[in-house]
Amino acid sequence: MTRHFHPDPAWVAVEDWLSQTLFSPEEEETGSIFDRNKAGGLPPIDVVPTAGKFLFLLAKIAGARRVLEVGTLGGYSSTWLARALPSGGTVVTLEIDPHHAEVARENHVLAGVGDLVEVVVGPAIDSLLAFKAEGVEPFDLVFIDADKRNNANYVRLAVDLARPGTVIVVDNAVRGGAIIDPNALDLEHGDNDARGTREVLELLGSHPRLDATALQLVSSKGWDGIAVAVVR
Ligand code: SAH
Ligand code: DHB
Ligand code: MG
Repeated sequence: MTRHFHPDPAWVAVEDWLSQTLFSPEEEETGSIFDRNKAGGLPPIDVVPTAGKFLFLLAKIAGARRVLEVGTLGGYSSTWLARALPSGGTVVTLEIDPHHAEVARENHVLAGVGDLVEVVVGPAIDSLLAFKAEGVEPFDLVFIDADKRNNANYVRLAVDLARPGTVIVVDNAVRGGAIIDPNALDLEHGDNDARGTREVLELLGSHPRLDATALQLVSSKGWDGIAVAVVR
């Protein structure tokens, strides 16, 4: 199967037009995060602006007061999520790379959400298990966007840290079609990330406590998608 990580120029033009048309000048300031990420040498794998605003909208629709993110990078998606919080709300975001976490902290402060977002440095599984052991208050929305091979583990732990009605979102749900590509899924020659994403979709579709779907998306990042679930 052909992989489509390279975007069609028309997808990029539509994305640019939608972003310019649907975003307020204040929201566009979030774009400067990309400049600081680039200066810091971070990979350009943030969610695209229209997807960032989609996360903001989901958080608003869910009335999310406690948001959990797995995979901070430079804090682009967590800034969108923080902007959707009611007063007293918080975003907790998990990041394994201390340099990414440092750039994210700077971006959160410059974006005016420094007091709303806590970056926890370390392997996300460890942080999630610690939250579970501490018995933290349930999260209202969980956004999973880190190492794809652990996607299913993250969803299982997200359910443990959830309440009925909690929204779970998984990024990169389609990966250029890799999720149904026998070569990408091959145990010997394939890749763990494709298998991890396939596995999480199968889990979302069969989990007794989740209703879920996945949507294919095209953007400047190519052909990918997003999965959304709600805890019963
Ligand atoms: N959500 C971000 C993009 C995240 S990119 C945004 O849209 O702005 C994925 C991030 O997950 C990277 O910063 C990477 O360092 C981090 N990551 C990878 N493996 C991880 C792990 N085991 N635990 C925590 N973070 C991890
Ligand atoms: C990659 C990771 C992401 O989270 C993403 O949205 C795009 C690409 C990557 O690891 O290549
Ligand atoms: Mg992603």
